[in-house]
Amino acid sequence: MLNFELYNPTNLVFGKGQIEKLSTLVPQGAKILLAYGGGSIFKNGIHEQVINNLKAFEIVEFAGIEPNPHFETLMKAVAIIKEQNIDFILAVGGGSVIDGVKFISAAVNFDGNPIDILQKRVLTKDVSKIIPFGTILTLPATGSEMNSGGVVTIQSTQEKLSFGGSALFPKFSICDPTVIESLPKRQLQNGVVDAYTHVLEQYLTYPHEGYLQDRIAEGILQTLIQVGPEVVENPKDYALASNFMWSCTMALNGLIQKGVPSDWATHMIGHELTALYGIDHARTLAVVGPNLYRVMFETKKGKLAQYGKRIFNLTGTEDEIANEAINKTVEFFHTMGMDTKLSDYTKDYDKTADFIVDRFKERGWLGLGEKQNITLEKVKSIVEMSY
Ligand code: NZQ
Ligand code: ZN
Repeated sequence: MLNFELYNPTNLVFGKGQIEKLSTLVPQGAKILLAYGGGSIFKNGIHEQVINNLKAFEIVEFAGIEPNPHFETLMKAVAIIKEQNIDFILAVGGGSVIDGVKFISAAVNFDGNPIDILQKRVLTKDVSKIIPFGTILTLPATGSEMNSGGVVTIQSTQEKLSFGGSALFPKFSICDPTVIESLPKRQLQNGVVDAYTHVLEQYLTYPHEGYLQDRIAEGILQTLIQVGPEVVENPKDYALASNFMWSCTMALNGLIQKGVPSDWATHMIGHELTALYGIDHARTLAVVGPNLYRVMFETKKGKLAQYGKRIFNLTGTEDEIANEAINKTVEFFHTMGMDTKLSDYTKDYDKTADFIVDRFKERGWLGLGEKQNITLEKVKSIVEMSY
């Protein structure tokens, strides 16, 4: 096993009715920026619950953080925080709102132009410089509620870039599984596939000695396969909802990544597809992932075979099991309502591979994946195979 440090200071407050604890979790006397998205929290009553539980606090509202949040929008919140001396931010929403708030938190006291947090990937490590924040999760998917990373889109350049740092963990995250009742089917499907792919990014690498990490990862995959298709049909079932929500958090709170290699190239390529065509994050993963496993078959086949045996009970030679495991993954994505070809989402795809390769070249991303052997040529093959 590789050496590791495990640091995760987020106080995760999980379960039905936990929003009632909000007033005890927010620092007493804080002036709060309440940040949210396009308005779903008004329709499902979460806004009202938040306001009722924060009666003793001064609140300034910031609405309109869009899916795949924009740098340009977030900088408006940065200005409000400076003008109004805000000292705590409450993010109420899915991954986009939470990521957006992480960026705002890092940008307020950033020395220089905050765009560098994204374009130069300046890490945010100094807790004394950030604006502390908590979250109320309304969409299980990204794990952003218990990690210190985020992804923000610069609208003017159509770039979707990740950022993060150890100072950007939420102080607390309230995860009440009943919030999923108001989610559209498409977002429930997205959540399952995003979390499933997070596990695969950290699991489908090469055989190693992290036996426990593998077993935990497999447990999350099996749980998502068990509850995923059902929770989409029946989001009011608390057993399904709570296992779905906890699986999503566990898939990307750092635990299964400790001491083992990880890949993340599916995400890096997928982010380009969202930046270019606005395709939902999870759907880009369903397009790219299986083709990445096909192109990187020789590197990944040991782990693909383990995945095939343990998750799908496949038998045969290592190559047969590994190949069939990819097919089974695609089948699962189809069950979860995903289209798995780029041409299902846009007719304008023929130059995509060259465009992405050029961008990666400009950024110096010459070798991705757990062995840095996903070369630009391989990226091109993966994207072309995804058409
Ligand atoms: O904006 P509102 O009106 O709130 O509507 C949202 C949004 O339109 C709606 N929604 C959220 N909760 C709801 C609800 N509708 C009804 N009832 C509820 N309870 O859902 C829509 C999508 O929300 P969004 O936050 O964009 O979805 P998700 O949580 O999937 O987040 C995706 C973003 O997270 C990033 C992605 O790249 C993408 O930008 N990721 C962040 C990661 C991280 N921080 O670790 C890792 C992931 O791999 C991912 O890259
Ligand atoms: Zn993801």
